Amino acid sequence: MKIAVIGAGTIGLSWATLFAAHGHEVRVSDPRPDLAEALGDLDVHIAGSVGEAVRDVDVVQENGPERLDFKRELFARLVAEAPAHALLLSSSSAIPSSEFTAGIDGSRVLIGHPFNPPHIMPLVEVVPNPRTREEAVRDAVGFYRSLGRVPVVERKEVPGFVGNRLQNALQREAIHLVQAGVVDPAGLDEVVVNSLGLRWAAVGPFLGAHLGGGPGGYRHLATHIGASMQRITPGRPDPAATERVIAAVEKAYGDKAYKDLAAERDRKQLAILTAREQGDTE
Ligand SMILES: NC(=O)c1ccc[n+]([C@@H]2O[C@H](COP(=O)([O-])OP(=O)(O)OC[C@H]3O[C@@H](n4cnc5c(N)ncnc54)[C@H](O)[C@@H]3O)[C@@H](O)[C@H]2O)c1
Repeated sequence: MKIAVIGAGTIGLSWATLFAAHGHEVRVSDPRPDLAEALGDLDVHIAGSVGEAVRDVDVVQENGPERLDFKRELFARLVAEAPAHALLLSSSSAIPSSEFTAGIDGSRVLIGHPFNPPHIMPLVEVVPNPRTREEAVRDAVGFYRSLGRVPVVERKEVPGFVGNRLQNALQREAIHLVQAGVVDPAGLDEVVVNSLGLRWAAVGPFLGAHLGGGPGGYRHLATHIGASMQRITPGRPDPAATERVIAAVEKAYGDKAYKDLAAERDRKQLAILTAREQGDTE
């Protein structure tokens, strides 16, 4: 496959590494004067312009500056200059593609947002805009899967998508706790690395909570401990909304036995702990 990487900073260089490692023909475009040096001995082609980079490619992965005006102008060019079949993917961290495709054909434009560095982190958030064709969503998912990534399709455009919104929520509270003198930064990092971080590498917040409820699952946790959590989540409880989330979690995990899910979580957590201890001693 021929792939254009537009913008070769932190994210573009990492994508280029991954694409080249999978044997794809990669064309890189970036006006930075030290581009050749930054690419080192990566097996990629340096294009003299965006037009040259995208001329006969199947996929474009855009990683330029996180500015609406930049992405608007660039995507207008990409739609005009890339082949009609090419997927046009943006690494944007927070700007939904409907914002930079207003007035142009957005049917093959969508977000493919990685976590840094994309040649190592598996997640890619695939976020179509309302005009993105379903076929383009399917192709993007297939493309990222073929690279060993884990694409997750998100059906509504929200600024920051899912990953960065979660990260921001936690970061906001972390900053608050340090500012309030509850804990210092190193102490807070210890809390995360030895609890939530470890857990979330094995199970996500919902499966983690489902198992936290024991054999009674998420329903038990939400109604039992959930009530005491009300102390830190101000606002009136909304039993109907809680019930909808309980139903969604039970739909996702309710058909699996507690003991099997808990055993799988424990196996993964122990493997992660073992790997971490090995990392400590190397
Ligand atoms: N850094 C992260 O952790 C991270 C994670 C996920 C997604 N992203 C997103 O990826 C994109 C790139 O972020 P980054 O951190 O790599 O930024 P960066 O500043 O490291 O790189 C941006 C690159 O774009 C280049 N550029 C500027 N004008 C250009 C043009 N006309 N054509 C081609 N290239 C041009 C710059 O020279 C620079 O090398 C942003 O949209 C950002 O939100 C960043």
